[in-house]
Amino acid sequence: MAVIAQKCPEIQVTVVDLNEARIQAWNDEDAKNIPIYEPGLSDVVAEARNRNLFFSTDVEKAIDEAEMIFISVNTPTKTYGAGKGMAADLKFIELCARQIAKVSKSDKIVVEKSTLPVRTAEAIKSILNNTGNGVNFQILSNPEFLAEGTAVQDLLNPDRILIGGDPSPEGKEAVEALVEIYSNWVDSSKILTTNLWSSELSKLTANAFLAQRVSSVNAISELCEKTGADVNEVAKAIGMDSRIGSKFLKASVGFGGSCFQKDILNLVYIAKSYGLHEVADYWEQVIIMNDHQKKRFADKIVSTLYNTVSGKKIAFLGWAFKKDTNDTRESAAIYVADDLINEQASLSVFDPKVSESQILSDLNYLNSRAASENRSQVSVLENPYDACKEAHAIAVLTEWDEFKTYDWEKIYNQMQKPAFVFDGRNVLDGKKLTEIGFIYNGIGL
Ligand SMILES: NC(=O)c1ccc[n+]([C@@H]2O[C@H](COP(=O)([O-])OP(=O)(O)OC[C@H]3O[C@@H](n4cnc5c(N)ncnc54)[C@H](O)[C@@H]3O)[C@@H](O)[C@H]2O)c1
Repeated sequence: MAVIAQKCPEIQVTVVDLNEARIQAWNDEDAKNIPIYEPGLSDVVAEARNRNLFFSTDVEKAIDEAEMIFISVNTPTKTYGAGKGMAADLKFIELCARQIAKVSKSDKIVVEKSTLPVRTAEAIKSILNNTGNGVNFQILSNPEFLAEGTAVQDLLNPDRILIGGDPSPEGKEAVEALVEIYSNWVDSSKILTTNLWSSELSKLTANAFLAQRVSSVNAISELCEKTGADVNEVAKAIGMDSRIGSKFLKASVGFGGSCFQKDILNLVYIAKSYGLHEVADYWEQVIIMNDHQKKRFADKIVSTLYNTVSGKKIAFLGWAFKKDTNDTRESAAIYVADDLINEQASLSVFDPKVSESQILSDLNYLNSRAASENRSQVSVLENPYDACKEAHAIAVLTEWDEFKTYDWEKIYNQMQKPAFVFDGRNVLDGKKLTEIGFIYNGIGL
């Protein structure tokens, strides 16, 4: 929304959220204090805010005044009832639709921006048309393909914009209205219009394909470790095949983030609900492989440290699910930490952008043990050198660029010996570290 406001100064954009603290942070006088860390975003917000970009908690007023409403609420995996642990929980979407229906006094275009199961527009349409005040609604699907960490660049130069709508003349008019907005900065050749169901399903499919590539290369990484092949070399060799391409072939401790796992589980659930069990099993394996990759990283740390980490200090570099974001949802670090705490390790964590309270709350959310126990086993440091001091091993969980630039001699000198490094992202210079004296372990090497 901030990028739309920046690129379309004649359009008034109002972002509303029920969460008052979040809105307050978005309105912080210093745009550097906005609640999401995303390179370039604070500048975009600083430029448009209070010009044609507003942040507010007055949801009803914003609905009343809007001609077009983007529903961008969260769609987490259900934690209760039918489809628990798999289906998308659509209660926030439904609440939004009901509120829009209740408040609206003029015709509106309602845009699904959240990632949704295929055919959700049908449910939204039914709610809007049966509980509204007789006003006309058009529903569009406009899934968001930005990636956290590169969100602003992705929005400014998208590979494509996808807009799904109803084939009726009113539906086509609504699609055109949204095409016009994006046309302010996106070339028309990159704006794709489809029917609603193709658009909804394309977003889930895109995430499933991307995650599948990560799980595929991670599956090969384990085979590399057994055979003497090097996964970086294999990835390069296959990635240069133009039919395969080089992106999303980086072996790692496993993918995280708020989207991949939730969206694949959602796809699996949809397939199951249509009785397509082979389709469901096929995609579920992507998640199973990812869970295995996280577990095997923790297991390797334990087995390498002479089968016990009890009472040993292990330093974590990185907690975010990837670099250039402060988002930790589903981060591999959480699960690796949980396994190591079960083995009675004490962890010292440093992440350039993630706070202590976030790290502890991520661990507490798993409910594996009392919060007091997490607090006593985990310390969060402000500085990487302090985090690594006296550690038996360092585990790299996020590929932050700054990790490469540290004084690794200094870190080595302050560690217990032998000093181990487990590079869960293959970002460090293993050869150099070995020369310093570290015992270096990467993924698939
Ligand atoms: N995070 C990503 O990288 C990304 C990328 C593409 C698509 N998506 C999709 O976008 C959607 C949102 O993701 P997110 O990461 O921004 O989630 P989020 O949980 O960070 O934000 C959702 C916000 O919606 C607010 N909210 C919930 N119900 C509301 C209501 N009735 N009225 C007003 N506000 C309400 C919540 O308070 C919260 O602040 C999801 O469907 C996700 O799959 C996310």
